[in-house]
Amino acid sequence: MSPSPADTPSLAAAAPDATVTGALGWRAGMDFTTLMASRRSVRGFTGQPVPRALVDAIVAVAKRVPSSMNVQPWHIHALSGAPLEELRRRNSAMMRAGAEPVSDIVTHTPYVGEHRRRQVDVAKQLFGAMGIAREDAAGRDDWVMRGFRQFDAPVSLILTYDRILDPGMNSVFDLGQLCCGIVLAAWDRGLGCVVNSQGIQRSDVVRDITGIPDDHVIVNCIAMGWPDEDFPANHVRSAREPNAAFTHYIGFAN
Ligand SMILES: Cc1cc2nc3c(=O)[nH]c(=O)nc-3n(C[C@H](O)[C@H](O)[C@H](O)COP(=O)(O)O)c2cc1C
Repeated sequence: MSPSPADTPSLAAAAPDATVTGALGWRAGMDFTTLMASRRSVRGFTGQPVPRALVDAIVAVAKRVPSSMNVQPWHIHALSGAPLEELRRRNSAMMRAGAEPVSDIVTHTPYVGEHRRRQVDVAKQLFGAMGIAREDAAGRDDWVMRGFRQFDAPVSLILTYDRILDPGMNSVFDLGQLCCGIVLAAWDRGLGCVVNSQGIQRSDVVRDITGIPDDHVIVNCIAMGWPDEDFPANHVRSAREPNAAFTHYIGFAN
Protein backbone atom coordinates (compact mmCIF):
# COMPACT_ATOMS: atom_id res chain seq x y z
CA MET A 1 0.00 0.00 0.00
CA SER A 2 1.44 3.38 -0.87
CA PRO A 3 1.70 5.95 1.90
CA SER A 4 -1.20 8.33 2.31
CA PRO A 5 -0.50 12.08 2.08
CA ALA A 6 -0.74 12.25 5.88
CA ASP A 7 2.07 9.70 6.13
CA THR A 8 4.42 11.82 4.04
CA PRO A 9 5.30 14.92 6.03
CA SER A 10 5.09 17.63 3.43
CA LEU A 11 7.49 20.51 3.50
CA ALA A 12 4.55 22.80 4.16
CA ALA A 13 3.43 20.85 7.21
CA ALA A 14 6.99 20.51 8.41
CA ALA A 15 7.88 24.16 8.00
CA PRO A 16 8.60 25.71 11.39
CA ASP A 17 6.47 28.63 12.36
CA ALA A 18 8.04 31.92 11.40
CA THR A 19 7.77 33.29 14.92
CA VAL A 20 9.98 30.56 16.34
CA THR A 21 13.59 31.57 16.69
CA GLY A 22 16.62 29.79 17.99
CA ALA A 23 16.73 31.25 21.49
CA LEU A 24 15.94 27.91 23.12
CA GLY A 25 18.57 26.08 21.09
CA TRP A 26 16.17 25.14 18.33
CA ARG A 27 17.11 25.83 14.73
CA ALA A 28 15.66 24.76 11.41
CA GLY A 29 17.20 21.68 9.84
CA MET A 30 19.34 20.78 12.84
CA ASP A 31 21.12 17.43 12.80
CA PHE A 32 19.97 14.65 15.11
CA THR A 33 22.61 15.23 17.77
CA THR A 34 21.75 18.92 17.98
CA LEU A 35 18.06 18.02 18.09
CA MET A 36 18.64 15.72 21.06
CA ALA A 37 20.95 18.18 22.79
CA SER A 38 18.65 21.16 22.41
CA ARG A 39 15.33 19.48 23.28
CA ARG A 40 14.01 20.30 26.68
CA SER A 41 10.62 20.19 28.37
CA VAL A 42 8.64 23.30 27.49
CA ARG A 43 6.17 24.54 30.11
CA GLY A 44 5.30 27.98 28.77
CA PHE A 45 3.54 28.46 25.43
CA THR A 46 2.51 31.33 23.20
CA GLY A 47 -1.21 31.56 22.57
CA GLN A 48 -0.73 30.49 18.96
CA PRO A 49 -2.79 27.43 17.97
CA VAL A 50 -1.25 24.26 16.55
CA PRO A 51 -3.01 23.13 13.38
CA ARG A 52 -4.26 19.56 13.14
CA ALA A 53 -2.19 19.00 9.95
CA LEU A 54 0.98 19.75 11.89
CA VAL A 55 0.04 17.31 14.65
CA ASP A 56 -0.66 14.74 11.93
CA ALA A 57 2.75 15.33 10.31
CA ILE A 58 4.43 14.83 13.71
CA VAL A 59 2.50 11.61 14.30
CA ALA A 60 3.47 10.36 10.84
CA VAL A 61 7.15 10.76 11.73
CA ALA A 62 6.86 9.46 15.30
CA LYS A 63 5.02 6.25 14.46
CA ARG A 64 8.18 4.87 12.81
CA VAL A 65 9.48 4.04 16.29
CA PRO A 66 9.86 0.33 17.03
CA SER A 67 7.30 -1.63 19.01
CA SER A 68 7.39 -5.13 20.36
CA MET A 69 6.78 -7.48 17.37
CA ASN A 70 5.40 -4.44 15.57
CA VAL A 71 2.09 -4.73 17.40
CA GLN A 72 1.83 -0.92 17.52
CA PRO A 73 -0.35 -1.05 20.64
CA TRP A 74 -0.91 2.69 20.75
CA HIS A 75 -3.71 5.18 20.30
CA ILE A 76 -3.26 8.94 20.35
CA HIS A 77 -6.20 11.05 21.51
CA ALA A 78 -5.38 14.56 20.34
CA LEU A 79 -7.22 17.26 22.27
CA SER A 80 -7.53 20.96 21.58
CA GLY A 81 -10.11 23.67 22.05
CA ALA A 82 -13.14 23.16 24.30
CA PRO A 83 -12.48 19.53 25.37
CA LEU A 84 -8.95 20.41 26.47
CA GLU A 85 -10.22 23.45 28.38
CA GLU A 86 -12.77 21.23 30.08
CA LEU A 87 -10.09 18.70 31.03
CA ARG A 88 -7.90 21.47 32.46
CA ARG A 89 -10.81 22.86 34.44
CA ARG A 90 -12.05 19.58 35.92
CA ASN A 91 -8.59 18.09 36.54
CA SER A 92 -7.48 21.26 38.36
CA ALA A 93 -10.70 21.54 40.35
CA MET A 94 -10.51 17.96 41.58
CA MET A 95 -6.85 18.15 42.49
CA ARG A 96 -7.43 21.51 44.18
CA ALA A 97 -10.22 19.92 46.19
CA GLY A 98 -7.78 17.26 47.40
CA ALA A 99 -8.99 14.33 45.28
CA GLU A 100 -6.74 11.28 45.07
CA PRO A 101 -5.23 10.60 41.63
CA VAL A 102 -6.93 7.82 39.68
CA SER A 103 -4.38 6.32 37.32
CA ASP A 104 -4.64 3.36 34.92
CA ILE A 105 -0.97 2.49 35.41
CA VAL A 106 0.93 1.68 38.58
CA THR A 107 3.68 4.14 39.46
CA HIS A 108 6.32 4.18 42.15
CA THR A 109 6.44 7.22 44.41
CA PRO A 110 7.73 8.81 46.51
CA TYR A 111 11.26 8.61 45.25
CA VAL A 112 14.16 8.11 47.61
CA GLY A 113 17.97 8.16 47.37
CA GLU A 114 19.57 9.17 44.09
CA HIS A 115 16.19 9.23 42.32
CA ARG A 116 14.87 11.72 44.86
CA ARG A 117 18.07 13.75 44.54
CA ARG A 118 17.58 14.06 40.76
CA GLN A 119 13.90 14.92 41.21
CA VAL A 120 14.79 17.66 43.69
CA ASP A 121 17.60 18.96 41.49
CA VAL A 122 15.36 19.63 38.51
CA ALA A 123 12.65 21.11 40.76
CA LYS A 124 15.25 23.51 42.20
CA GLN A 125 16.28 24.48 38.68
CA LEU A 126 12.69 25.13 37.64
CA PHE A 127 11.75 27.05 40.79
CA GLY A 128 15.00 28.99 40.60
CA ALA A 129 14.28 30.03 37.01
CA MET A 130 10.73 31.04 37.95
CA GLY A 131 11.89 32.98 41.02
CA ILE A 132 9.87 30.76 43.36
CA ALA A 133 11.58 30.69 46.75
CA ARG A 134 11.49 27.68 49.08
CA GLU A 135 9.13 29.45 51.49
CA ASP A 136 6.91 30.84 48.72
CA ALA A 137 3.90 28.57 49.24
CA ALA A 138 1.69 30.55 46.85
CA GLY A 139 4.33 30.43 44.10
CA ARG A 140 4.74 26.67 44.53
CA ASP A 141 1.02 26.15 44.53
CA ASP A 142 0.69 28.19 41.34
CA TRP A 143 3.35 26.03 39.68
CA VAL A 144 1.61 22.79 40.64
CA MET A 145 -1.71 24.12 39.35
CA ARG A 146 -0.07 25.03 36.04
CA GLY A 147 0.89 21.36 35.74
CA PHE A 148 -2.71 20.28 36.36
CA ARG A 149 -3.69 22.66 33.53
CA GLN A 150 -1.11 21.10 31.22
CA PHE A 151 0.73 24.41 31.35
CA ASP A 152 -2.09 25.91 29.24
CA ALA A 153 -0.72 24.24 26.10
CA PRO A 154 -3.00 24.48 23.05
CA VAL A 155 -2.76 20.74 22.36
CA SER A 156 -2.60 17.62 24.49
CA LEU A 157 -1.92 14.16 23.11
CA ILE A 158 -3.20 11.44 25.42
CA LEU A 159 -1.46 8.12 24.81
CA THR A 160 -3.32 4.86 25.42
CA TYR A 161 -2.86 1.20 24.55
CA ASP A 162 -5.30 -1.65 24.02
CA ARG A 163 -6.12 -3.21 27.38
CA ILE A 164 -6.28 -6.66 25.81
CA LEU A 165 -2.45 -6.51 25.88
CA ASP A 166 -2.34 -6.41 29.71
CA PRO A 167 -0.25 -7.20 31.66
CA GLY A 168 1.26 -4.51 29.54
CA MET A 169 4.87 -3.72 30.39
CA ASN A 170 5.85 -4.10 26.71
CA SER A 171 3.02 -1.79 25.72
CA VAL A 172 4.06 0.86 28.22
CA PHE A 173 7.60 0.55 26.85
CA ASP A 174 6.28 0.88 23.27
CA LEU A 175 4.26 3.96 24.22
CA GLY A 176 7.36 5.48 25.77
CA GLN A 177 9.08 5.14 22.43
CA LEU A 178 6.14 6.70 20.61
CA CYS A 179 6.12 9.50 23.16
CA CYS A 180 9.81 10.17 22.57
CA GLY A 181 9.26 10.11 18.81
CA ILE A 182 6.47 12.67 19.11
CA VAL A 183 8.46 14.97 21.37
CA LEU A 184 11.48 14.90 19.05
CA ALA A 185 9.46 15.27 15.84
CA ALA A 186 7.66 18.21 17.42
CA TRP A 187 10.92 19.87 18.49
CA ASP A 188 12.24 19.35 14.94
CA ARG A 189 9.37 21.61 13.83
CA GLY A 190 9.90 24.20 16.54
CA LEU A 191 7.10 22.92 18.77
CA GLY A 192 7.73 22.40 22.47
CA CYS A 193 6.36 19.57 24.59
CA VAL A 194 6.24 18.40 28.15
CA VAL A 195 5.23 14.88 29.02
CA ASN A 196 2.72 15.63 31.70
CA SER A 197 1.37 13.07 34.18
CA GLN A 198 -0.14 15.91 36.20
CA GLY A 199 -2.48 16.83 33.35
CA ILE A 200 -4.35 13.53 33.48
CA GLN A 201 -4.37 12.77 37.19
CA ARG A 202 -7.93 11.52 36.99
CA SER A 203 -8.51 8.81 34.38
CA ASP A 204 -12.25 8.92 35.11
CA VAL A 205 -12.40 12.61 34.17
CA VAL A 206 -10.28 12.05 31.06
CA ARG A 207 -12.64 9.27 29.91
CA ASP A 208 -15.74 11.32 30.63
CA ILE A 209 -14.53 14.22 28.50
CA THR A 210 -12.83 12.35 25.66
CA GLY A 211 -14.87 9.17 25.41
CA ILE A 212 -11.72 7.07 25.68
CA PRO A 213 -13.19 3.60 26.25
CA ASP A 214 -12.42 1.32 29.21
CA ASP A 215 -10.58 -1.11 26.92
CA HIS A 216 -7.85 1.51 26.46
CA VAL A 217 -5.23 1.94 29.18
CA ILE A 218 -4.38 5.62 29.66
CA VAL A 219 -0.61 5.91 30.07
CA ASN A 220 0.31 9.57 29.86
CA CYS A 221 -0.15 12.76 27.91
CA ILE A 222 2.02 15.22 26.05
CA ALA A 223 1.27 18.94 26.33
CA MET A 224 2.36 20.62 23.08
CA GLY A 225 2.57 24.13 21.71
CA TRP A 226 4.79 26.93 20.46
CA PRO A 227 7.44 27.72 23.08
CA ASP A 228 7.25 31.08 24.80
CA GLU A 229 10.87 32.18 24.80
CA ASP A 230 10.20 34.68 27.57
CA PHE A 231 9.01 31.97 29.94
CA PRO A 232 11.99 31.43 32.27
CA ALA A 233 11.46 27.71 32.94
CA ASN A 234 11.79 27.01 29.21
CA HIS A 235 15.46 27.93 29.51
CA VAL A 236 16.20 25.27 32.12
CA ARG A 237 18.66 22.61 31.02
CA SER A 238 18.10 19.55 33.17
CA ALA A 239 21.18 17.58 34.23
CA ARG A 240 22.22 14.10 33.13
CA GLU A 241 24.56 11.67 34.87
CA PRO A 242 27.89 10.85 33.24
CA ASN A 243 27.70 7.69 31.08
CA ALA A 244 29.90 5.81 33.53
CA ALA A 245 27.29 6.21 36.25
CA PHE A 246 24.71 4.08 34.42
CA THR A 247 26.40 2.36 31.44
CA HIS A 248 27.80 -1.05 32.25
CA TYR A 249 30.12 -2.35 29.52
CA ILE A 250 30.57 -6.10 29.51
CA GLY A 251 32.99 -7.98 27.27
CA PHE A 252 34.36 -5.04 25.30
CA ALA A 253 38.00 -5.50 24.20
CA ASN A 254 38.58 -1.74 24.12
C1 LIG B 1 6.58 9.94 32.23
C2 LIG B 1 6.87 11.42 32.43
C3 LIG B 1 5.99 12.19 33.19
C4 LIG B 1 6.24 13.54 33.39
N1 LIG B 1 5.33 14.29 34.09
C5 LIG B 1 5.57 15.60 34.30
C6 LIG B 1 4.64 16.40 35.02
O1 LIG B 1 3.59 15.93 35.46
N2 LIG B 1 4.92 17.71 35.20
C7 LIG B 1 6.06 18.27 34.70
O2 LIG B 1 6.27 19.47 34.89
N3 LIG B 1 6.97 17.55 34.01
C8 LIG B 1 6.74 16.23 33.79
N4 LIG B 1 7.64 15.48 33.07
C9 LIG B 1 8.85 16.11 32.50
C10 LIG B 1 10.10 15.76 33.29
O3 LIG B 1 10.09 16.46 34.52
C11 LIG B 1 11.34 16.13 32.46
O4 LIG B 1 11.36 15.35 31.29
C12 LIG B 1 12.64 15.92 33.23
O5 LIG B 1 12.71 16.77 34.34
C13 LIG B 1 13.87 16.17 32.36
O6 LIG B 1 13.85 17.46 31.85
P1 LIG B 1 13.91 17.77 30.29
O7 LIG B 1 12.73 17.07 29.64
O8 LIG B 1 13.80 19.26 30.20
O9 LIG B 1 15.21 17.25 29.77
C14 LIG B 1 7.40 14.13 32.83
C15 LIG B 1 8.25 13.36 32.04
C16 LIG B 1 7.99 12.02 31.83
C17 LIG B 1 8.93 11.21 30.95
